[in-house]
Amino acid sequence: MSSKPALAHVAIIMDGNGRWAKQRKLPRTAGHKQGIKATREIVEASAEAGVKYLTLFAFSSENWKRPKAEISALMNLFIQSLQNEAQSLHEKGVRLKFLGHRNAFSDGLCQQIELAEELTCRNDKLFLNIAAGYGGRWDILQAVNHVIQDVLHDRLAASDINEDLFEKRLVTGDIPAPDLFIRTGGEQRISNFLLWQLAYTELYFCDTLWPDFDTDELKKAFESYRVRQRRFGLIQEQIA
Ligand code: IPE
Ligand code: IPE
Ligand code: MG
Repeated sequence: MSSKPALAHVAIIMDGNGRWAKQRKLPRTAGHKQGIKATREIVEASAEAGVKYLTLFAFSSENWKRPKAEISALMNLFIQSLQNEAQSLHEKGVRLKFLGHRNAFSDGLCQQIELAEELTCRNDKLFLNIAAGYGGRWDILQAVNHVIQDVLHDRLAASDINEDLFEKRLVTGDIPAPDLFIRTGGEQRISNFLLWQLAYTELYFCDTLWPDFDTDELKKAFESYRVRQRRFGLIQEQIA
């Protein structure tokens, strides 16, 4: 086995808030609130473990189809969390960035996002990406549209389009692809998360519901990752 694989970028689908609440006969919103507590712990534990990039799936393009009351509760929680957490994230050296299509967000939420991004834009201890209003298909399409515009306006020759160039147009364009993907909550699917970016990411699924996911659970995921051999299509002897 080669030396332990580096772990720079972790991407997480934080799933299971609704079921956590249902098990306790609480409204789904209570699960989302508890989920925020887990998020706080995981952000800190990731930074301590030396993770450089943490990308959290908070709200998918498809989640817009949920009942209106749940959407509005979630949007209010986003605004509140930004108000409550931005300053302390800043003090911890976290750089916050939102990935996704913002057109359906309220002006108030967009404003909080911009304030938090601006406040933390010079930090570099941990790059924390919140994917909200995000869909992997949307991401690929917006990159295609950027490429088309560049070709139409003679900034790019069609013959120069390649994987590296295309990748830079994705919303994660300036950061490396995830090394480890974690999904909590028991489902084993990607649910339109980082479709292009996950091509060679190591996948880890666990049954723990997101509000119960803690530092010990995160360590289990990291341990599972540490013993994997990433081959990227090569054979074992080439890696060693
Ligand atoms: C994940 O938890 C949070 C969001 C999608 C916003 P869910 O709300 O999907 O919880 P479950 O899957 O119904 O338990
Ligand atoms: C994926 O969870 C999106 C987020 C966690 C933000 P979902 O709960 O929306 O996914 P499905 O519907 O079970 O695939
Ligand atoms: Mg879910």
